[in-house]
Amino acid sequence: MQKKLFIKTYGCQMNVYDSARMAEALAPLGYVPVDTVDDADLAILNTCHIREKAAEKVFSELGRLRVLRNEREKPLLIGVAGCVAQAEGAEIQRRAPFVDLVVGPQTYHRLPHLVAQALHAPVVDTDFPAEDKFDLLPTERSVDGPAAFLTVQEGCDKFCTFCVVPYTRGAEASRPLRQVLDEACQLAAKGVREITLLGQNVNAYHGLDENGRPASLATLMRALAAIPGIARLRYTTSHPRDMGDDLIAAHRDLPALMPFLHLPVQSGSDRVLAAMNRRHKADDYRRIVGRLRDARPDIALSSDFIVGFPGETDADFRATMALVEETGFAQAFSFKYSPRPGTPAAEAADAVDEAAKSERLAELQALLLRQQTAFNAACLGRTLPVLLEKPGRHPGQLVGKSPYLQAVSVVGLNEGIGSVVDVMIDTVLSNSLSGVPAGRPAADRAA
Ligand code: SAH
Ligand code: SF4
Ligand code: F3S
Repeated sequence: MQKKLFIKTYGCQMNVYDSARMAEALAPLGYVPVDTVDDADLAILNTCHIREKAAEKVFSELGRLRVLRNEREKPLLIGVAGCVAQAEGAEIQRRAPFVDLVVGPQTYHRLPHLVAQALHAPVVDTDFPAEDKFDLLPTERSVDGPAAFLTVQEGCDKFCTFCVVPYTRGAEASRPLRQVLDEACQLAAKGVREITLLGQNVNAYHGLDENGRPASLATLMRALAAIPGIARLRYTTSHPRDMGDDLIAAHRDLPALMPFLHLPVQSGSDRVLAAMNRRHKADDYRRIVGRLRDARPDIALSSDFIVGFPGETDADFRATMALVEETGFAQAFSFKYSPRPGTPAAEAADAVDEAAKSERLAELQALLLRQQTAFNAACLGRTLPVLLEKPGRHPGQLVGKSPYLQAVSVVGLNEGIGSVVDVMIDTVLSNSLSGVPAGRPAADRAA
Protein backbone atom coordinates (compact mmCIF):
# COMPACT_ATOMS: atom_id res chain seq x y z
CA MET A 1 0.00 0.00 0.00
CA GLN A 2 1.20 3.50 -0.76
CA LYS A 3 2.40 5.49 2.24
CA LYS A 4 3.42 9.12 2.46
CA LEU A 5 6.92 10.15 3.45
CA PHE A 6 7.74 13.69 4.52
CA ILE A 7 11.42 14.58 4.98
CA LYS A 8 12.51 17.98 6.27
CA THR A 9 16.15 18.75 5.61
CA TYR A 10 18.38 21.06 7.65
CA GLY A 11 22.09 21.85 7.33
CA CYS A 12 24.47 21.30 4.45
CA GLN A 13 24.11 19.93 0.92
CA MET A 14 25.17 16.52 2.11
CA ASN A 15 21.99 16.34 4.11
CA VAL A 16 20.05 17.23 0.96
CA TYR A 17 21.76 14.32 -0.80
CA ASP A 18 21.15 12.01 2.16
CA SER A 19 17.45 12.92 2.26
CA ALA A 20 17.08 11.93 -1.38
CA ARG A 21 18.83 8.63 -0.69
CA MET A 22 16.67 7.96 2.35
CA ALA A 23 13.58 8.41 0.20
CA GLU A 24 15.05 5.99 -2.34
CA ALA A 25 15.80 3.48 0.42
CA LEU A 26 12.19 3.64 1.64
CA ALA A 27 10.57 3.45 -1.81
CA PRO A 28 10.50 -0.38 -1.83
CA LEU A 29 8.32 -0.22 1.32
CA GLY A 30 5.77 1.83 -0.60
CA TYR A 31 6.78 5.26 0.71
CA VAL A 32 6.22 8.11 -1.71
CA PRO A 33 7.72 11.55 -0.93
CA VAL A 34 5.25 14.37 -0.18
CA ASP A 35 5.81 18.11 0.35
CA THR A 36 3.81 18.64 3.53
CA VAL A 37 3.61 16.72 6.75
CA ASP A 38 -0.16 17.09 7.23
CA ASP A 39 -1.13 13.77 5.71
CA ALA A 40 2.21 11.94 6.06
CA ASP A 41 2.60 8.43 7.49
CA LEU A 42 6.27 8.94 8.29
CA ALA A 43 8.00 12.25 9.03
CA ILE A 44 11.79 12.38 9.16
CA LEU A 45 13.76 15.41 10.28
CA ASN A 46 17.21 15.24 8.71
CA THR A 47 19.09 17.41 11.14
CA CYS A 48 22.20 19.57 11.54
CA HIS A 49 24.33 19.89 14.67
CA ILE A 50 26.81 22.51 13.48
CA ARG A 51 25.60 25.43 15.64
CA GLU A 52 23.40 25.53 18.69
CA LYS A 53 20.56 27.24 16.85
CA ALA A 54 20.47 24.54 14.19
CA ALA A 55 20.29 21.79 16.81
CA GLU A 56 17.63 23.54 18.91
CA LYS A 57 15.35 23.93 15.88
CA VAL A 58 14.97 20.17 15.87
CA PHE A 59 13.41 20.03 19.31
CA SER A 60 10.88 22.75 18.51
CA GLU A 61 9.97 21.05 15.24
CA LEU A 62 9.57 17.75 17.09
CA GLY A 63 7.16 19.47 19.48
CA ARG A 64 5.05 20.57 16.50
CA LEU A 65 5.04 17.05 15.09
CA ARG A 66 3.82 15.67 18.39
CA VAL A 67 0.94 18.15 18.44
CA LEU A 68 0.03 17.22 14.88
CA ARG A 69 0.05 13.53 15.74
CA ASN A 70 -2.14 14.05 18.81
CA GLU A 71 -4.62 16.15 16.87
CA ARG A 72 -5.28 13.80 14.00
CA GLU A 73 -6.60 10.28 13.69
CA LYS A 74 -4.10 8.86 11.26
CA PRO A 75 -0.96 7.48 12.93
CA LEU A 76 2.34 9.27 12.29
CA LEU A 77 5.77 7.75 12.71
CA ILE A 78 8.31 10.38 13.75
CA GLY A 79 11.97 9.93 12.91
CA VAL A 80 15.13 11.96 13.47
CA ALA A 81 18.09 11.46 11.13
CA GLY A 82 21.32 13.33 10.46
CA CYS A 83 23.92 14.91 12.68
CA VAL A 84 21.75 15.72 15.73
CA ALA A 85 20.58 12.11 15.71
CA GLN A 86 24.20 10.98 15.66
CA ALA A 87 25.40 13.37 18.35
CA GLU A 88 22.38 13.39 20.62
CA GLY A 89 20.54 10.10 20.12
CA ALA A 90 20.15 9.59 23.87
CA GLU A 91 19.24 13.24 24.48
CA ILE A 92 16.47 12.98 21.86
CA GLN A 93 15.05 9.94 23.61
CA ARG A 94 15.14 11.84 26.91
CA ARG A 95 13.76 15.18 25.71
CA ALA A 96 11.39 13.79 23.07
CA PRO A 97 10.47 10.25 24.13
CA PHE A 98 7.61 10.22 21.60
CA VAL A 99 10.15 9.97 18.74
CA ASP A 100 9.86 6.55 17.11
CA LEU A 101 13.10 6.36 15.24
CA VAL A 102 16.60 7.84 15.53
CA VAL A 103 19.06 7.07 12.73
CA GLY A 104 22.55 8.46 12.13
CA PRO A 105 24.11 9.49 8.81
CA GLN A 106 26.06 6.25 8.51
CA THR A 107 23.17 3.82 9.03
CA TYR A 108 20.27 5.16 7.00
CA HIS A 109 20.64 2.30 4.51
CA ARG A 110 19.04 0.28 7.34
CA LEU A 111 15.90 2.45 7.28
CA PRO A 112 13.53 -0.17 5.82
CA HIS A 113 14.38 -2.48 8.70
CA LEU A 114 14.35 0.31 11.30
CA VAL A 115 10.97 1.63 10.16
CA ALA A 116 9.49 -1.86 10.43
CA GLN A 117 10.87 -2.11 13.97
CA ALA A 118 9.69 1.38 14.93
CA LEU A 119 6.10 0.39 14.19
CA HIS A 120 6.34 -1.74 17.36
CA ALA A 121 8.81 0.05 19.64
CA PRO A 122 11.13 3.08 19.49
CA VAL A 123 14.48 2.34 17.86
CA VAL A 124 17.86 4.12 17.83
CA ASP A 125 20.66 3.29 15.41
CA THR A 126 23.69 5.58 15.58
CA ASP A 127 26.41 3.00 14.86
CA PHE A 128 29.48 3.64 12.81
CA PRO A 129 28.99 0.30 11.07
CA ALA A 130 31.61 -1.87 9.42
CA GLU A 131 29.55 -2.03 6.25
CA ASP A 132 29.43 0.89 3.84
CA LYS A 133 25.98 2.36 3.26
CA PHE A 134 26.84 3.13 -0.36
CA ASP A 135 27.27 -0.60 -1.04
CA LEU A 136 23.81 -1.29 0.36
CA LEU A 137 21.59 1.58 -0.75
CA PRO A 138 19.46 1.03 -3.87
CA THR A 139 21.62 1.85 -6.91
CA GLU A 140 18.66 3.36 -8.76
CA ARG A 141 18.84 7.15 -8.25
CA SER A 142 15.91 9.51 -8.52
CA VAL A 143 16.52 12.76 -10.37
CA ASP A 144 15.02 16.17 -9.71
CA GLY A 145 16.06 18.55 -12.49
CA PRO A 146 19.30 18.97 -14.43
CA ALA A 147 21.54 19.78 -11.42
CA ALA A 148 22.38 17.07 -8.90
CA PHE A 149 24.50 16.48 -5.82
CA LEU A 150 26.76 13.46 -5.55
CA THR A 151 28.53 12.59 -2.30
CA VAL A 152 32.04 11.31 -3.00
CA GLN A 153 33.69 11.74 0.38
CA GLU A 154 32.35 11.79 3.89
CA GLY A 155 33.64 12.50 7.36
CA CYS A 156 36.57 14.53 8.53
CA ASP A 157 39.92 13.93 10.21
CA LYS A 158 40.87 17.59 10.55
CA PHE A 159 39.40 18.24 14.00
CA CYS A 160 39.07 22.00 13.86
CA THR A 161 38.59 22.85 17.52
CA PHE A 162 35.12 24.40 17.01
CA CYS A 163 33.57 21.72 14.83
CA VAL A 164 31.29 18.74 15.50
CA VAL A 165 31.59 17.18 12.05
CA PRO A 166 34.41 14.71 12.89
CA TYR A 167 32.17 13.39 15.67
CA THR A 168 28.87 13.32 13.78
CA ARG A 169 30.16 12.11 10.42
CA GLY A 170 33.10 10.05 11.60
CA ALA A 171 36.49 9.52 9.98
CA GLU A 172 37.27 10.56 6.43
CA ALA A 173 36.23 8.02 3.82
CA SER A 174 36.16 8.26 0.03
CA ARG A 175 33.89 6.30 -2.26
CA PRO A 176 35.66 4.19 -4.91
CA LEU A 177 36.13 5.93 -8.26
CA ARG A 178 34.05 3.36 -10.17
CA GLN A 179 31.13 3.67 -7.77
CA VAL A 180 31.07 7.45 -8.21
CA LEU A 181 31.37 7.19 -12.00
CA ASP A 182 28.52 4.66 -12.17
CA GLU A 183 26.26 6.96 -10.16
CA ALA A 184 27.24 9.94 -12.33
CA CYS A 185 26.57 7.98 -15.56
CA GLN A 186 23.14 7.08 -14.26
CA LEU A 187 22.40 10.71 -13.37
CA ALA A 188 23.60 11.86 -16.80
CA ALA A 189 21.43 9.25 -18.54
CA LYS A 190 18.46 10.70 -16.67
CA GLY A 191 19.17 14.22 -17.93
CA VAL A 192 21.50 15.63 -15.30
CA ARG A 193 23.90 18.21 -16.79
CA GLU A 194 25.58 19.56 -13.68
CA ILE A 195 27.03 17.56 -10.80
CA THR A 196 28.19 19.04 -7.53
CA LEU A 197 30.56 16.65 -5.80
CA LEU A 198 30.06 16.68 -2.07
CA GLY A 199 32.24 15.94 0.90
CA GLN A 200 32.90 17.48 4.29
CA ASN A 201 36.44 17.69 2.95
CA VAL A 202 35.78 16.97 -0.66
CA ASN A 203 39.24 17.94 -1.88
CA ALA A 204 40.76 15.31 0.41
CA TYR A 205 39.05 12.76 -1.87
CA HIS A 206 41.27 9.72 -2.47
CA GLY A 207 38.90 6.99 -3.66
CA LEU A 208 40.50 3.83 -5.01
CA ASP A 209 40.62 3.33 -8.77
CA GLU A 210 40.23 -0.02 -10.53
CA ASN A 211 43.87 -0.86 -9.85
CA GLY A 212 43.44 -0.23 -6.15
CA ARG A 213 45.38 3.05 -6.28
CA PRO A 214 44.02 6.23 -4.71
CA ALA A 215 42.65 8.72 -7.23
CA SER A 216 42.57 12.44 -6.47
CA LEU A 217 39.57 14.72 -6.85
CA ALA A 218 41.16 16.15 -10.00
CA THR A 219 41.45 12.64 -11.48
CA LEU A 220 37.84 11.96 -10.59
CA MET A 221 36.71 15.20 -12.20
CA ARG A 222 38.62 14.50 -15.40
CA ALA A 223 36.75 11.18 -15.68
CA LEU A 224 33.41 12.82 -14.87
CA ALA A 225 33.92 15.56 -17.45
CA ALA A 226 34.20 12.85 -20.12
CA ILE A 227 30.71 11.45 -19.41
CA PRO A 228 28.38 12.40 -22.28
CA GLY A 229 25.81 14.97 -21.13
CA ILE A 230 27.81 16.28 -18.18
CA ALA A 231 28.41 19.96 -18.92
CA ARG A 232 29.24 21.32 -15.48
CA LEU A 233 31.12 20.19 -12.40
CA ARG A 234 31.44 21.76 -8.98
CA TYR A 235 32.75 20.52 -5.66
CA THR A 236 32.18 21.54 -2.08
CA THR A 237 33.39 21.94 0.69
CA SER A 238 37.12 22.24 0.40
CA HIS A 239 39.83 22.79 2.97
CA PRO A 240 42.73 25.09 2.06
CA ARG A 241 45.21 22.42 3.20
CA ASP A 242 44.03 20.06 0.47
CA MET A 243 44.16 22.47 -2.50
CA GLY A 244 46.79 20.35 -4.29
CA ASP A 245 48.62 21.32 -7.49
CA ASP A 246 46.59 18.94 -9.64
CA LEU A 247 43.33 20.37 -8.32
CA ILE A 248 44.45 23.91 -9.10
CA ALA A 249 45.55 22.70 -12.54
CA ALA A 250 42.08 21.18 -13.06
CA HIS A 251 40.64 24.70 -12.77
CA ARG A 252 42.89 25.67 -15.69
CA ASP A 253 42.35 22.55 -17.80
CA LEU A 254 38.74 21.47 -17.33
CA PRO A 255 36.21 23.73 -19.04
CA ALA A 256 33.38 21.83 -17.29
CA LEU A 257 34.73 22.80 -13.89
CA MET A 258 32.83 25.97 -13.00
CA PRO A 259 34.94 29.03 -12.09
CA PHE A 260 33.44 29.33 -8.64
CA LEU A 261 34.95 27.88 -5.49
CA HIS A 262 33.75 27.76 -1.91
CA LEU A 263 36.95 27.75 0.12
CA PRO A 264 36.33 28.48 3.80
CA VAL A 265 39.05 30.40 5.63
CA GLN A 266 37.18 31.08 8.92
CA SER A 267 39.55 33.84 10.08
CA GLY A 268 42.29 36.14 8.79
CA SER A 269 44.29 35.98 12.02
CA ASP A 270 47.12 33.47 12.33
CA ARG A 271 46.65 33.33 16.08
CA VAL A 272 42.98 32.42 15.73
CA LEU A 273 43.66 30.03 12.84
CA ALA A 274 46.17 28.22 15.08
CA ALA A 275 43.71 28.09 17.98
CA MET A 276 41.12 26.70 15.56
CA ASN A 277 43.61 24.01 14.49
CA ARG A 278 43.15 24.98 10.85
CA ARG A 279 46.83 24.20 10.25
CA HIS A 280 47.48 26.97 7.77
CA LYS A 281 48.21 30.68 7.97
CA ALA A 282 46.33 33.59 6.43
CA ASP A 283 49.15 34.04 3.91
CA ASP A 284 48.81 30.41 2.81
CA TYR A 285 45.21 31.21 1.94
CA ARG A 286 46.30 34.32 0.03
CA ARG A 287 48.82 32.24 -1.92
CA ILE A 288 46.24 29.59 -2.80
CA VAL A 289 43.83 32.26 -4.02
CA GLY A 290 46.63 33.77 -6.10
CA ARG A 291 47.43 30.43 -7.71
CA LEU A 292 43.75 29.74 -8.41
CA ARG A 293 43.41 33.12 -10.07
CA ASP A 294 46.54 32.50 -12.14
CA ALA A 295 45.07 29.17 -13.25
CA ARG A 296 41.58 30.51 -13.92
CA PRO A 297 41.46 34.31 -14.05
CA ASP A 298 37.65 34.47 -13.98
CA ILE A 299 37.34 32.33 -10.85
CA ALA A 300 35.09 33.78 -8.13
CA LEU A 301 35.42 32.83 -4.50
CA SER A 302 33.13 32.12 -1.63
CA SER A 303 34.04 31.45 1.99
CA ASP A 304 32.88 30.77 5.54
CA PHE A 305 33.85 32.93 8.51
CA ILE A 306 33.50 32.55 12.25
CA VAL A 307 33.64 35.69 14.41
CA GLY A 308 34.08 35.71 18.15
CA PHE A 309 36.10 32.52 18.42
CA PRO A 310 37.43 32.26 22.02
CA GLY A 311 40.32 34.65 22.50
CA GLU A 312 39.61 36.63 19.30
CA THR A 313 40.77 40.21 19.93
CA ASP A 314 39.82 43.28 18.01
CA ALA A 315 43.19 43.06 16.25
CA ASP A 316 42.41 39.47 15.19
CA PHE A 317 39.06 40.60 13.84
CA ARG A 318 40.79 43.44 11.91
CA ALA A 319 43.01 40.80 10.31
CA THR A 320 39.88 38.98 9.10
CA MET A 321 38.46 42.23 7.70
CA ALA A 322 41.78 42.92 5.95
CA LEU A 323 41.83 39.46 4.37
CA VAL A 324 38.27 39.95 3.10
CA GLU A 325 39.07 43.43 1.73
CA GLU A 326 42.09 42.10 -0.08
CA THR A 327 40.60 38.90 -1.44
CA GLY A 328 37.17 40.04 -2.62
CA PHE A 329 34.47 37.42 -2.28
CA ALA A 330 31.53 36.92 -4.64
CA GLN A 331 29.56 35.41 -1.80
CA ALA A 332 30.13 34.20 1.76
CA PHE A 333 28.61 32.78 4.92
CA SER A 334 29.54 34.17 8.30
CA PHE A 335 28.60 33.04 11.77
CA LYS A 336 29.03 33.91 15.40
CA TYR A 337 31.08 31.27 17.13
CA SER A 338 28.77 28.78 18.83
CA PRO A 339 30.34 26.51 21.48
CA ARG A 340 29.51 22.90 20.67
CA PRO A 341 29.45 20.12 23.24
CA GLY A 342 32.43 17.78 23.06
CA THR A 343 34.63 20.09 20.96
CA PRO A 344 37.92 21.40 22.41
CA ALA A 345 37.09 25.10 21.90
CA ALA A 346 33.93 24.76 23.98
CA GLU A 347 36.20 24.31 27.03
CA ALA A 348 38.07 27.59 26.40
CA ALA A 349 37.97 30.13 29.22
CA ASP A 350 38.40 33.27 27.09
CA ALA A 351 34.98 33.49 25.45
CA VAL A 352 34.17 36.66 23.53
CA ASP A 353 31.07 38.39 24.87
CA GLU A 354 27.88 38.31 22.83
CA ALA A 355 27.79 42.07 22.19
CA ALA A 356 31.27 42.04 20.65
CA LYS A 357 30.38 38.97 18.58
CA SER A 358 27.26 40.70 17.25
CA GLU A 359 29.15 43.90 16.44
CA ARG A 360 31.87 42.04 14.59
CA LEU A 361 29.40 39.91 12.69
CA ALA A 362 27.44 42.97 11.57
CA GLU A 363 30.61 44.71 10.40
CA LEU A 364 31.88 41.66 8.53
CA GLN A 365 28.51 40.97 6.94
CA ALA A 366 28.22 44.56 5.76
CA LEU A 367 31.59 44.25 4.00
CA LEU A 368 30.73 40.84 2.51
CA LEU A 369 27.40 42.17 1.28
CA ARG A 370 29.14 45.13 -0.38
CA GLN A 371 31.46 42.72 -2.14
CA GLN A 372 28.63 40.46 -3.23
CA THR A 373 26.62 43.42 -4.50
CA ALA A 374 29.63 44.72 -6.43
CA PHE A 375 30.26 41.28 -7.92
CA ASN A 376 26.65 40.98 -9.07
CA ALA A 377 26.60 44.54 -10.38
CA ALA A 378 29.68 43.80 -12.48
CA CYS A 379 27.66 41.10 -14.26
CA LEU A 380 25.43 43.73 -15.88
CA GLY A 381 25.99 43.67 -19.63
CA ARG A 382 28.06 40.48 -19.48
CA THR A 383 27.11 37.32 -21.32
CA LEU A 384 27.03 34.34 -18.97
CA PRO A 385 26.29 30.69 -19.74
CA VAL A 386 23.20 29.65 -17.80
CA LEU A 387 22.04 26.11 -17.10
CA LEU A 388 18.25 26.26 -17.33
CA GLU A 389 16.77 24.45 -14.33
CA LYS A 390 13.08 25.22 -13.91
CA PRO A 391 10.15 27.37 -15.02
CA GLY A 392 10.11 30.94 -13.68
CA ARG A 393 7.19 32.82 -12.17
CA HIS A 394 6.16 34.46 -15.44
CA PRO A 395 4.94 32.70 -18.57
CA GLY A 396 7.77 31.94 -20.98
CA GLN A 397 10.40 32.51 -18.33
CA LEU A 398 12.95 29.94 -17.21
CA VAL A 399 15.29 30.14 -14.26
CA GLY A 400 18.78 28.72 -14.11
CA LYS A 401 22.24 29.21 -12.65
CA SER A 402 25.23 31.17 -13.84
CA PRO A 403 28.72 29.68 -13.42
CA TYR A 404 28.83 31.66 -10.15
CA LEU A 405 25.68 30.02 -8.76
CA GLN A 406 23.66 33.19 -9.25
CA ALA A 407 20.01 32.57 -10.03
CA VAL A 408 19.28 33.94 -13.52
CA SER A 409 15.84 34.29 -15.05
CA VAL A 410 15.62 34.35 -18.82
CA VAL A 411 12.86 35.14 -21.31
CA GLY A 412 12.65 34.71 -25.06
CA LEU A 413 14.26 31.29 -25.19
CA ASN A 414 14.12 28.65 -27.88
CA GLU A 415 15.82 26.14 -25.60
CA GLY A 416 14.30 24.27 -22.67
CA ILE A 417 15.21 23.04 -19.20
CA GLY A 418 18.54 21.23 -19.18
CA SER A 419 20.13 23.43 -21.85
CA VAL A 420 23.10 25.69 -21.22
CA VAL A 421 22.45 28.98 -23.01
CA ASP A 422 24.43 32.20 -23.29
CA VAL A 423 22.48 34.94 -21.58
CA MET A 424 23.10 38.66 -21.82
CA ILE A 425 22.49 40.02 -18.33
CA ASP A 426 20.29 43.12 -18.52
CA THR A 427 19.02 43.40 -14.93
CA VAL A 428 20.72 42.93 -11.58
CA LEU A 429 18.42 42.45 -8.60
CA SER A 430 19.47 41.94 -4.99
CA ASN A 431 19.33 38.15 -5.09
CA SER A 432 19.23 37.31 -8.75
CA LEU A 433 20.00 38.36 -12.28
CA SER A 434 17.90 38.36 -15.39
CA GLY A 435 18.62 38.57 -19.05
CA VAL A 436 17.89 37.57 -22.60
CA PRO A 437 19.51 35.06 -24.96
CA ALA A 438 22.74 36.58 -26.24
CA GLY A 439 23.26 37.32 -29.89
CA ARG A 440 19.61 37.33 -30.92
CA PRO A 441 18.03 40.30 -32.65
CA ALA A 442 15.93 42.34 -30.21
CA ALA A 443 12.67 41.53 -32.04
CA ASP A 444 13.29 37.84 -31.43
CA ARG A 445 13.77 38.34 -27.75
CA ALA A 446 10.40 39.77 -26.84
CA ALA A 447 8.72 37.04 -24.81
N1 SAH B 1 34.21 21.30 6.14
C1 SAH B 1 34.03 22.67 6.03
C2 SAH B 1 33.03 23.26 6.98
C3 SAH B 1 31.84 22.52 7.42
S1 SAH B 1 30.82 23.35 8.57
C4 SAH B 1 35.37 23.37 6.27
O1 SAH B 1 36.33 22.78 6.68
O2 SAH B 1 35.46 24.54 6.07
C5 SAH B 1 30.29 24.79 7.72
C6 SAH B 1 30.70 26.07 8.39
O3 SAH B 1 30.05 26.22 9.62
C7 SAH B 1 32.17 26.16 8.74
O4 SAH B 1 32.95 26.51 7.64
C8 SAH B 1 32.18 27.19 9.82
O5 SAH B 1 32.34 28.49 9.29
C9 SAH B 1 30.81 27.06 10.44
N2 SAH B 1 30.91 26.46 11.79
C10 SAH B 1 31.30 25.21 12.10
N3 SAH B 1 31.28 25.03 13.43
C11 SAH B 1 30.89 26.21 13.98
C12 SAH B 1 30.70 26.67 15.32
N4 SAH B 1 30.95 25.88 16.35
N5 SAH B 1 30.29 27.95 15.50
C13 SAH B 1 30.05 28.75 14.44
N6 SAH B 1 30.22 28.38 13.17
C14 SAH B 1 30.64 27.12 12.93
FE1 SF4 C 1 34.77 20.77 10.58
FE2 SF4 C 1 37.27 21.53 10.21
FE3 SF4 C 1 36.47 19.16 9.34
FE4 SF4 C 1 35.61 21.38 8.15
S1 SF4 C 1 37.73 20.65 8.24
S2 SF4 C 1 34.38 19.61 8.72
S3 SF4 C 1 35.43 22.79 9.83
S4 SF4 C 1 36.62 19.80 11.45
FE1 F3S D 1 25.28 20.11 9.76
FE2 F3S D 1 26.07 17.62 9.76
FE3 F3S D 1 26.19 19.04 7.54
S1 F3S D 1 26.37 19.07 11.37
S2 F3S D 1 26.57 21.07 8.30
S3 F3S D 1 24.37 18.47 8.60
S4 F3S D 1 27.64 17.52 8.21
